[in-house]
Amino acid sequence: MKKLSLAITLMFVPCLAQAWPWSQDMANQVSIKPQESVDSTKPGMAPFPKRSQPVAGTMVFVKDQDAARNMVNPVAADDKSVAQGARLYAIYCTPCHGKSGTGDGLVGEKLVMKPWDLTNTNQMHSWNPKEYPDGYIFGYMSLGGAVMPSYANDLSATERWHVVNYVRRVLQKGQAGITAAQAK
Ligand code: HEC
Repeated sequence: MKKLSLAITLMFVPCLAQAWPWSQDMANQVSIKPQESVDSTKPGMAPFPKRSQPVAGTMVFVKDQDAARNMVNPVAADDKSVAQGARLYAIYCTPCHGKSGTGDGLVGEKLVMKPWDLTNTNQMHSWNPKEYPDGYIFGYMSLGGAVMPSYANDLSATERWHVVNYVRRVLQKGQAGITAAQAK
């Protein structure tokens, strides 16, 4: 019995080692950290350079999917926008939703919850614009889903609308630029 409890105790030793102070060694190097002061007389955080300003427009805060649904697509679904959307879709969405948009991406196949079909070919889920306006797709990218991550940090708001236009015009074959208000 004693041997068993000793064995169990030893099993946990590596876990504890992770929490010991020297596990920070790699992080605490002599290198200068982001925004760290380089002036040894004024340690701490470096002051922001004069005239620096917070950047606007890198992230749109969408409250929830209901608010997103009613957003009007501000980017015309012209060829230029669709081409940009195609490029971004290939980078950010194909791993799960696949080139076809049906959810046959290599990463998607491994997920417990399969990525949903973004095309208009699935009889079970028609992309009726009254139910699923442009803002819905925008909202999904901004907020993410149960399994799907949010893309609000990786894609600017305009970029997300380009992807919406690509999904509408190419993957769903022509349902472009429909807002909830227009579809009513
Ligand atoms: C890591 C895998 C993954 C990536 C990458 C991904 N998705 Fe998804 N997506 C999912 C999954 C899984 C779902 C199913 C619902 C959920 O997770 O809540 C989904 C659902 C959706 C839905 C809702 C579909 C419906 O029928 O209601 C939309 C729209 C969507 N994704 C768009 C995108 C777009 C556009 C991109 C690229 C910017 C993207 N997704 C990238 C996994 C992913």
